[in-house]
Amino acid sequence: MKTVNIAIDGPGGAGKSSISKAVAAELGYIHVDTGAMYRAIGLYALRNHCSEPEQIAEHVKEADISLKFIGGVQRVLLCGEDVTDYIRSPEVTMTASKVSAVPEVRAHLLDLQKKIAAENNIIMDGRDIGTVVLPHADLKIFLTASPEERASRRYLELREKPDCPDYDQILKEIQKRDYDDMHRDIAPLCQAEDAVLVDTSEMGFHEVTEFILDLIRKKLE
Ligand code: DC
Repeated sequence: MKTVNIAIDGPGGAGKSSISKAVAAELGYIHVDTGAMYRAIGLYALRNHCSEPEQIAEHVKEADISLKFIGGVQRVLLCGEDVTDYIRSPEVTMTASKVSAVPEVRAHLLDLQKKIAAENNIIMDGRDIGTVVLPHADLKIFLTASPEERASRRYLELREKPDCPDYDQILKEIQKRDYDDMHRDIAPLCQAEDAVLVDTSEMGFHEVTEFILDLIRKKLE
């Protein structure tokens, strides 16, 4: 049976994950957050003190990554351990970006991503889904927002927490991660030629969700 594959790419903090989750729930599809897979490998690298790309490349095969879905919601397992709750720290975030530039890491995750897409109706979000993982996706969306808007959303999310970084620091980290994700040699972040650009800088969460649902429904008609 042919499955429906929707690709959503874009920079960090553009709301890809939460929008994809809401869209998938509405359609009864599975939401696959590929960033969580790179984050789990980042956690593996931190735990095993693999700081150099060569070390990461050498050991990545030992980082067995699998996903399970509970009511359509993804949990990520690292060597059988559910690490979903440990992969959102700033340290893992920066390490995930670093490991994602290592070709062996990308090759390690690509087959798993393709297999899940072949077997399920999915909304898959990441950086290279429309360009590399699912070049024949039914619909490709490039979801973005200005770095300033993404930084201020992130600041609002974090400001009640102890040790909340200030707005300028958040903006700097976002700009660094954008630069690194867009300038790596392999599968850099870029908009696929046939992707629909959705700039959410001036849009609310529900507006974006409805807009994307509309695009999908029209495409599948
Ligand atoms: O979407 P995220 O912030 O959870 O992603 C974490 C890191 O993983 C990000 O810096 C880039 C990388 N990534 C990638 O290279 N390719 C993907 N398909 C998804 C994420």
